[in-house]
Amino acid sequence: MPTTAAPMPFAGPRLRPPCNLTSARPGPRRAGLAVVSAAAGGSPPTVLVTGAGGRTGQIVYKKLKERTDQFVGRGLVRTEESKAKIGGAADVFVGDIRDPASIAPAIDGIDALIILTSAVPKMKPGFDPSKGGRPEFYFDEGSYPEQVDWIGQKNQIDAAKSIGVKQIVLVGSMGGTDVNHPLNKIGNANILVWKRKAEQYLADSGLPYTIIRAGGLQDKDGGVRELIVGKDDEILKTETKTIARADVAEVCLQALLFEEARFKAFDLASKPEGEGVPTTDFRTLFSQVNSRF
Ligand SMILES: NC(=O)c1ccc[n+]([C@@H]2O[C@H](COP(=O)([O-])OP(=O)(O)OC[C@H]3O[C@@H](n4cnc5c(N)ncnc54)[C@H](OP(=O)(O)O)[C@@H]3O)[C@@H](O)[C@H]2O)c1
Repeated sequence: MPTTAAPMPFAGPRLRPPCNLTSARPGPRRAGLAVVSAAAGGSPPTVLVTGAGGRTGQIVYKKLKERTDQFVGRGLVRTEESKAKIGGAADVFVGDIRDPASIAPAIDGIDALIILTSAVPKMKPGFDPSKGGRPEFYFDEGSYPEQVDWIGQKNQIDAAKSIGVKQIVLVGSMGGTDVNHPLNKIGNANILVWKRKAEQYLADSGLPYTIIRAGGLQDKDGGVRELIVGKDDEILKTETKTIARADVAEVCLQALLFEEARFKAFDLASKPEGEGVPTTDFRTLFSQVNSRF
């Protein structure tokens, strides 16, 4: 991978590429303004991350808030508890993606949307690891993948489209090419099937999009590994099928900055730390992707 070593690869302004999302505001929203150089005097785009209280969503929210020269960040969380957890700022909206009216205020006026919501399985009580076997999982009534990952994501895409958003980044999961993937068995809820249905809906929406299908997520430092992109779950047949949540978060932001990331879908993993060269050249990374779905 053609990457260049750098001690602090994600240091914000230093990496600033030509921004294709610079907001057209405060003037009226007009078509055809997706690619406007920040240097030309536009204000930074307003970017909403949903699932902002989640494990990857919180990192995205934090990064957006740190890069005020590039983005005006917003978050959407489901509960007041989640809002408090990420600092409770006024730019954190509370809403439920299953209820379109409740997310409208968060969507209103945004330039780009990063979707990091997900149905979350819960472990059935009584599992004793000392006895071996596997734990069983369930979803709360009304919070199955069909409702959260399909209807909830569709609601977000529809709402964003209705206000003329310029790009949607959607984080999904590898494994979706295999209907018999073990993740589909969790709670017997076909989570990857519903996620993929939402991905297809986004790809068919006509909006610029980036679909990131992450490998196994790890709570590790970002910016210290070489990232790998692939398609059609080919990465799952290799030994390098995990990625740090912090790296996924960074790729979400970078996808908003490079034309090369638009209208693309890709699998994302990383080499182990110490192997390869930490990725800093995201234009080159996105250029390696040639699949639209
Ligand atoms: N775990 C893995 O190894 C793995 C691998 C590949 C891809 N992925 C995917 O990567 C993405 C990020 O994963 P993650 O582990 O960082 O996510 P996560 O921590 O599970 O966060 C999911 C977020 O979605 C929110 N949410 C759920 N239902 C909602 C609703 N009805 N309205 C509004 N928000 C709602 C949750 O809010 P609450 O906090 O209120 O519940 C939570 O903050 C997910 O799509 C996941 O499936 C995961």
